[in-house]
Amino acid sequence: MQTKRAWNDNWQYRPDYHVGDEADNTNSKQWQSVSLPHTNQMMPYNCFDEAEYQFISCYRKCLQADAEMKKKRVYLDFEGVMIACEVFCNGVSAGSHEGGYTPFSIELTELLHEGENTIAVKVDSTERTDIPPFGGVVDYLTHGGIYREVFLRTEDSLRLENVRLVCKEPLAREKTLTAECRIETDVFAGEAMLYLRLKDRDGRLCGECKQHEQLLQGRQTVSMSLQGLEQLQLWSVESPVLYTVEIEICAGSLRTLGRERFGFRSARFTPQGFYLNNKHIKLIGLNRHQEWPYVGYAMPKRVQRRDAEMLKEMGCNMVRTSHYPQSRHFLDACDELGLLVMEEIPGWQHIGDLAWQAHTLQDVRDMIERDRNRPCIVLWGVRVNESQDHHDFYTETNWVAHELDDTRQTGGVRYLKNSELLEDVYTYNDFSHSGGKKIFQEQREATGLEHPVPILVTESNGHMFPTKRFDHEERRREHALRHLRVMNEVYRRSDLSGALSWCAFDYNTHSSFGSGDKICYHGVYDMFRNPKLAAFSYAVQQSPHKKPLLEPLTVSSRGERDGGGTVPFTVLTNCDFVRVYKNEQLIDDFYPDRELFDHIPHPPIVIHHLIEKKHSFGLSDDGERMLRHFLTKKLAQEKLLDLSNEDWKELEQIARQGELTAHALYGKAVRAAGGWGDAENALRLEGYVDGKCVCVREIGERKHYSELRAVPDSTLLKAFDDSYDAVRIAVHALDEKGNCCLFTQECVRVAIEGPAELMGPEMFPLAGGASAFWIKTTGQTGAVRVQVLGTVHKTVCELTVEA
Ligand code: GAL
Repeated sequence: MQTKRAWNDNWQYRPDYHVGDEADNTNSKQWQSVSLPHTNQMMPYNCFDEAEYQFISCYRKCLQADAEMKKKRVYLDFEGVMIACEVFCNGVSAGSHEGGYTPFSIELTELLHEGENTIAVKVDSTERTDIPPFGGVVDYLTHGGIYREVFLRTEDSLRLENVRLVCKEPLAREKTLTAECRIETDVFAGEAMLYLRLKDRDGRLCGECKQHEQLLQGRQTVSMSLQGLEQLQLWSVESPVLYTVEIEICAGSLRTLGRERFGFRSARFTPQGFYLNNKHIKLIGLNRHQEWPYVGYAMPKRVQRRDAEMLKEMGCNMVRTSHYPQSRHFLDACDELGLLVMEEIPGWQHIGDLAWQAHTLQDVRDMIERDRNRPCIVLWGVRVNESQDHHDFYTETNWVAHELDDTRQTGGVRYLKNSELLEDVYTYNDFSHSGGKKIFQEQREATGLEHPVPILVTESNGHMFPTKRFDHEERRREHALRHLRVMNEVYRRSDLSGALSWCAFDYNTHSSFGSGDKICYHGVYDMFRNPKLAAFSYAVQQSPHKKPLLEPLTVSSRGERDGGGTVPFTVLTNCDFVRVYKNEQLIDDFYPDRELFDHIPHPPIVIHHLIEKKHSFGLSDDGERMLRHFLTKKLAQEKLLDLSNEDWKELEQIARQGELTAHALYGKAVRAAGGWGDAENALRLEGYVDGKCVCVREIGERKHYSELRAVPDSTLLKAFDDSYDAVRIAVHALDEKGNCCLFTQECVRVAIEGPAELMGPEMFPLAGGASAFWIKTTGQTGAVRVQVLGTVHKTVCELTVEA
């Protein structure tokens, strides 16, 4: 039988390497105690030198082998080490691996002796130009270290190595599930009994079959099929039903058992769009980098999963793992939540020599072998992101992908027009939208092909409009609108499967990219996973019956606007209409702008004016009507403070309807409309669905910083969950109505009591009125009290760490 246990705590680490370190088992002070996932170098949030983590380091850990273990084959399974490593057992090399994003196993059997063994891993985290993604420039960082988990596995002489699960006709009433198993035996040759079982999420048996097999000594592939499977539920975005598949092999006294998760679903990109289980759906999503402030790539399960949850909560139905295979935990969450995935190989624009290309082919293999049983993955990305066409190379990556998985289509992300289509789907980065009318190129313009093909936009926005959470309101608003325009185009174009915009979260990057501080502010969330306004462009497209949302794209303060004024402003919402009150007085009801946004489910609502419904300017009824019409027109054009001669003539005509001069009327009108010179205002926005008020938001100028709030993503942690556990705690400066005080910059300090520690600096500023920090468990259980102390306010949150 196989045994597998997490091997992530009690490692020792030194941030350098000298010949002989791999055999060092002394208590030298050079070694620090660490747990995995581990980053080789904690980095500042920004403005750092990225060369700081590019060095060779060494990890070591003691492996206690008893007589029982000595009878077995022993392996270390590494889930990800950046970017190359050599593993030693008692000073002797046991194997090596190149490539930072794919798993590998190192066999220790021959090198282990009974008693204490020193395992050492020499990790090269330099930008090795012979290994993808390096060789050219790369717009992301590849933080070093053993940054994913490690497992210690023992095996008997009968091993189940890799299982490929296929259901060719998942939509048939009676389904067939085929398991192709790679089996290896060291000495055994003879009759074996193989069992294939399908169980539902409650462990109930849905089907079982057994098969006699004549096993040969060595490696072989055996195929088994479970037929006539009825009444199974399909996996879908709304209902991601998962099954467990068990494969058991009994051969003489030997027995081995493997478990895989599986979901029954069909997924097809066609020239008419994307179909999941024959149902047409528009793919709306974002690209994701697996990176966090300070710790780079090294985050455990809960934090990896949280990114998937956030994307799902935002209403995205797809994510691209730009630009490499990502953590198993992230993908597990995508399987469980119903978030579709395009997974791709490591790389960025550069194609190296043949040896480099061989690495990429291996990456294709490793990625597909690791993840091909996952229902969430609907497309393999088998080109180096945005590289040039390369007929031979990409013919081969496609061939390998299809050979390993003939149930999924391939894509390969290009930005080139008329690029050679060797994949099944034309996956295209289309950055045409730069604020004007044009959103995407028409299909023929992009593909250069006369016939329609399946097409998916894999990036848009991003560097076309970098936006910080703390940018000027106008920019943050336009950022949100650009994401909305892209979505609108996806819904409008019948040939387009969807668009995955750039990107989910801001990320650290090299000097040749970003805002000069080593950050690309391209996310709809910042690096701390705090939302920018653009995140709400996605969220409000969901049904209000799921969650009514209302997010004004304004701080509602006239000094933040060029020329002053608070109107017009835009509200993102999934409500039918918004009723606005100013200083308790009804202004009006405002409705979605279906003219500009004619295809998305929930267009934004523009609040054109803030003139009280009952306000009288002292004009005749006709005059009042004329004036309101005039003001609404000028406010919509954002020209109330910049009247032309014609405007003045119109105003004079209106003023004649009362006893006023045009200038006096104008002064009154500007103030009533909420302009410069009017008293502070408090706005109440009520969102209505089916005639009922379902959400309320209070904004306006009457506000001050009144609360510092710290909210953990979850309050219950595990002391140990294969490795340490970690959680984000978001910090916000809020006004008395619960709105973020966007320009509060105060410094806060975090103090922790209990079995948890900080994963970053204890003191940091709020940027854009918010920040976040992560804490991790120490292996002990108990209550954790986290204080966040500002200069003005402070707050406390309580968490529990359980066994
Ligand atoms: C693309 C590239 C991404 C990112 C993005 C920024 O060209 O594929 O990795 O750099 O630009 O918008």
